[in-house]
Parts: sequence; C-alpha cells; structure tokens
Amino acid sequence: MSSSNGSITISIDGTNKSMSLPLLSGTEGPQVADIRKLYGQMGIFTFDPGYGETASCDSKITYIDGDAGVLMYRGYPIEQLAEHSDFIEVCYLLMNGDLPNAAELKEFRDGVTYHTMVHEQIRRFFDGFRRDAHPMAVMCGVVGALAAFYHDNLDINDAEARRIAAFRLIAKVPTIAAMAYKYALGQPFVYPKNSLSNQPQGYARNFIHMLMSVPAEEYQVPEVLAKAMDRILVLHADHEQNASTSTVRLAGSTGANPFACIAAGIAALWGPAHGGANEAVLKMLADIGDVKNIPAFISEVKDKGSTTKLMGFGHRVYKNFDPRAKIMKESCDEVLAELGVEHEPLLEIARELERIALSDDYFISRKLYPNVDFYSGIILKAMKIPTSMFTVIFAVARTVGWVSQWKELIEDPTQRIGRPRQLYTGPGRRDYVPVTQRG
Ligand code: ACO
Repeated sequence: MSSSNGSITISIDGTNKSMSLPLLSGTEGPQVADIRKLYGQMGIFTFDPGYGETASCDSKITYIDGDAGVLMYRGYPIEQLAEHSDFIEVCYLLMNGDLPNAAELKEFRDGVTYHTMVHEQIRRFFDGFRRDAHPMAVMCGVVGALAAFYHDNLDINDAEARRIAAFRLIAKVPTIAAMAYKYALGQPFVYPKNSLSNQPQGYARNFIHMLMSVPAEEYQVPEVLAKAMDRILVLHADHEQNASTSTVRLAGSTGANPFACIAAGIAALWGPAHGGANEAVLKMLADIGDVKNIPAFISEVKDKGSTTKLMGFGHRVYKNFDPRAKIMKESCDEVLAELGVEHEPLLEIARELERIALSDDYFISRKLYPNVDFYSGIILKAMKIPTSMFTVIFAVARTVGWVSQWKELIEDPTQRIGRPRQLYTGPGRRDYVPVTQRG
C-alpha cells in the first residue's frame, strides 16, 4: 500500500491558479506526484509520450532500480532467484507474493502440470498457418484462440476462475510454443510429459522435451539444456510495467477475456524494440559477420541519419547495467563450455562489440549498456534453437508476469479502464464543404 508523504505545489505562471499535489511513497523507489485531481482543479493534463515519467498503477510484484541495476521479484533479488530457485517456484512467487513451502510448491506444480495439454481441437488451428509462418504470428493467433475455448464460463470477478485461467495460461503457452515449432519443422506435435515436470527445472525440462523429442526416438533432456532454459525463463519472468505488460493491463482494464489479453501482450512483445530484440541481435551479429566489420557498423549506428541500432543495447529503465544481462553473460560462458562449443564466431563478435561500445562516448554519454537479450540469443543458438523461436521463448517466460499483473489489476478495487489523454494538434473546427465546391 502506498502512503501519502508530503506534497508539491504547482502553479500556472501569470495566473493565481495553484494546487497542491500529494506525494505518494512506495516501499522502494522515488516518490510519485498524484495528479488525479489535476484536470478537475487546474484544467490541464500532463504530457508524457512513452510514459517515461508516469506510474500507471501501484504494484507489489516487481521492482527495478534502473540507476543501481537492481531487479527484484516480490523483494527477492534476481541474482538469488537465478542461482537458487527454479522457474516453477518463481511462478508461485510472482503469482502469490511469497515463496512456497514444500506442500504449496507441490500443489502448485501439480496444478500447472494438470493443465499442460491443449484441447485436441486446438491442433486444427495450426493447419491454417503456412509452414513458414513466423512462430510469433502463430502464438498471437493460437493463444488468442484459447479465449474461444474458455470464455462463456469464465467470470473474471471470481477468484477461483482467475486462478484456473492463470494455471491454464502458464501451463499451455509452452505447449503451444512447442507446437508452433514442430509445425514449422513438419514434425508431429509432442505431448507434455508430466513425469518430467516433477524434477528440478521441471517446467523447462518438459518444454525442451516438447521442442526437441520425436516419437520415433528415445530422448533424454540434457541437464545443461534444462538448466540453461530454466535460467532464461527465470530472468525473463517479469519486468514491471514494460510495453507488453502495460498492453496486457490496458486490455485487461476493459474486462476482456484473459486469454485475449495475453495474446495482446504477445503481440506487443514481438517488436524489435522489446522482446523481438533477441532475434534481432542474432541477425545483427550474423550481418556484421566478422570482428573486422565492427568499426564500420558502430559508425553506422552513431550516424544521425541512419536508423541502425545496436540491438540488445539500451533500456528505458536501466541506465547503469541490466542485472539480467550480467547473469546471462556468465550463463553464456558456462553453457557454451558445457556444450563443448569452443569457437563461436558470433560470441566473439558480441564480446568485441560490447568492449568497443562500452568505451565509446556515444554509448557512455547515453548510458547504453547490454540488456538481457544481448547474450540470450547466443545461448539459445548454442542450444540449437532457431532464431525465430527466441521471442517465443521470451513469451513463454513472460506469461507468468503478464498473468500476475493481470490478476493484480483485476483484484485492485481502485482500477479503472486505462484511457490516456492526448495533446490534440490536428485542424481546429471547420465546416464540411461538398466535393463539388472543393478546389
Ligand atoms: N543503439 C544506438 N543508439 C541507441 C540505442 C541503441 N540500441 N538505444 C538508444 N539509443 C540512443 C537513441 O538514438 C537516443 O539518442 P539521441 O539522444 O541522440 O536521440 C538515446 O540513445 C536515447 O534513446 P531513447 O530512444 O530515448 O531510449 P528509449 O528509452 O526510448 O528506448 C530502447 C529504449 C527501446 C530499449 C532502445 O534503447 C532500443 O531500441 N534498444 C535496442 C533494442 C533492444 O535491445 N530492445 C530490448 C530492450 S530490453 C527488453 O525489452 C527485453
């Protein structure tokens, strides 16, 4: 719960109009000025395109301090969770607010496992897609289609209905993601294997099993893959009010079906400025092709007239370092060593790019550092996951964050429909002229 602590006074220059705005304090982070009565009392709106200075809600789920490079889920630092926890436990934490005891964890894991299969009719949706469709397009369609399976009897105002919808989403999104991959390959869909889910990193194990195994052969999920995938899922699980989460909240604020809201989140995630960056990083590294081409690429990035960006660099909130990127970089070295990848040209290009960028004034002055996706793609490539699936894996991980934030929104008695204002700059009032009289 936020507390009111002090106020700021604003006045309109040249008038005697002024008002006091209450300052609200959370548990961490800067105070926020409460402007809810601003228009009513002063007749003005605030202007904040991209919402860089605006808190759209209060939330108890995730905290980021961008200047200090801090990320915490429910108060637990991401470094501790990445080292000691696993994804299903992190899901429980994000959804419920505290770490589970052993019985709670088992019950939660069983609940997710119970819902991993999708309705057989869902298979038919895939036939409508071209085999070369981007799997994120398939994800938008098929996850959205879940709304058609769970709509009439889903009362979002009922806590139990919300709980089941949450389980269904967390459980079924990886199944659908793996189906999207198998469809592109022309291989049979692989059903979830629940005996895998009960093991450590079980959610990741089951996901890899659905991605990599084929019915004709025995398949053992390699330990290194299970651990690497689990860590990627933990690091991407939530990130407070980012573009896709805000999209989910905005859609949710209308009372829309939660499966449709998550499909909206998947669409927002796809863009290269957000979750699509992991795919874009690999493409960029491949396009650079050789360490010797880096200086020319950096010059292009710095050229004001060019639209080329150093993908995997920069973040709206992190202005010092992205703690996830630090863990991901260490993980990248470990995974490549364990997989016996001695020479990965893309990793060499990435390391050299990072070294040059971090000593270049363009990037230093703009506080641009590697973000979580700078190294995640190299790990996924080493795991033999195709580039087009990278953002899908991000969506699998972020589903729990979206669902937790959606649930928090619906359970907030003060929530209203999300509806920003605008600064209108189009034509003033004018009268209609019949086409015959227009010049
Ligand atoms: N490469 C080159 N220049 C950059 C980059 C970049 N990656 N990112 C920002 N800049 C520059 C901008 O051109 C701008 O320069 P200017 O002041 O001369 O105009 C300055 O840095 C500030 O950038 P903004 O665009 O204002 O930063 P914003 O907070 O709006 O954008 C974003 C953040 C979208 C992440 C941006 O840094 C970017 O596009 N990065 C590359 C894509 C990427 O890696 N996205 C993943 C983000 S993490 C995630 O979603 C999982």
